[in-house]
Amino acid sequence: MFTNLPILLAAGHAGANFPRVLTVTLIFTTALIVVHLVWTIARPKRPGPRKRWGIWESLVYIGALGCVLLLALTSFGAMARFGAIGGWALFVHMVGAGMFTTVLPVIALTWAAAHWCCCDCRDKTEMNPCRGDDEAEGHTVGNEPTVGHFFWLAKLCFWTILAAGWVVTMTMLISMLPLFGTDGLNALLNVHRYAGLIVVVALILHLYAVVLRCVGLR
Ligand code: HEM
Repeated sequence: MFTNLPILLAAGHAGANFPRVLTVTLIFTTALIVVHLVWTIARPKRPGPRKRWGIWESLVYIGALGCVLLLALTSFGAMARFGAIGGWALFVHMVGAGMFTTVLPVIALTWAAAHWCCCDCRDKTEMNPCRGDDEAEGHTVGNEPTVGHFFWLAKLCFWTILAAGWVVTMTMLISMLPLFGTDGLNALLNVHRYAGLIVVVALILHLYAVVLRCVGLR
């Protein structure tokens, strides 16, 4: 079964279906955000003051948003307009690709600790790695209880971005090695497309979660 995987992935329908999958996924993501927003506004929480981001953390986040936006516009935009990426769109995509490949490990190093916690953080001790990075009550700056940077949605999206971002990068890097035939390269391109879509959706949801935190709704 698995020996046929590259052929199945390379098969016309996997790539031909991508524009439809892209449209449906983006509509579904928007709908999800609207429903979650309505639900959040209907059940407001009082999270308390939030922790502030440092300049470096903000720059890394803005850098990640910038290069994923560039990569998404050049690839999805070119596909929508011309049916495939090429010419200047591909040139700009490759500039964004270089930036993304550099930024991805920097994001991991800068933000991993703040997204690490997966417990409810009620048991806070000096040894607890979650300390200061969660939304539970009880963390303090001075005497002020604060909420952490991220809630569960942002944490889930962060690790998804790292995993899918790695796949996006590796699929194109290993395509440059003289290891694959036409079917193999088509399969890698299809995996690249879908992994890229996952990165874009996860980043949109992450940004939404950050905005919710900033405006004090979570
Ligand atoms: C979130 C990030 C990214 C997204 C959303 C994305 C998306 C895409 C999509 C949808 C295509 C297919 C376009 C088509 O079918 O004509 C594509 C092509 C391509 N991407 Fe990306 N990409 C991303 C990151 C990267 C990175 C990091 C690299 C390099 C390391 C890269 C290199 C390429 C190349 C070389 C092509 C052209 C492949 C070909 O036509 O044979 N991309 N990308």
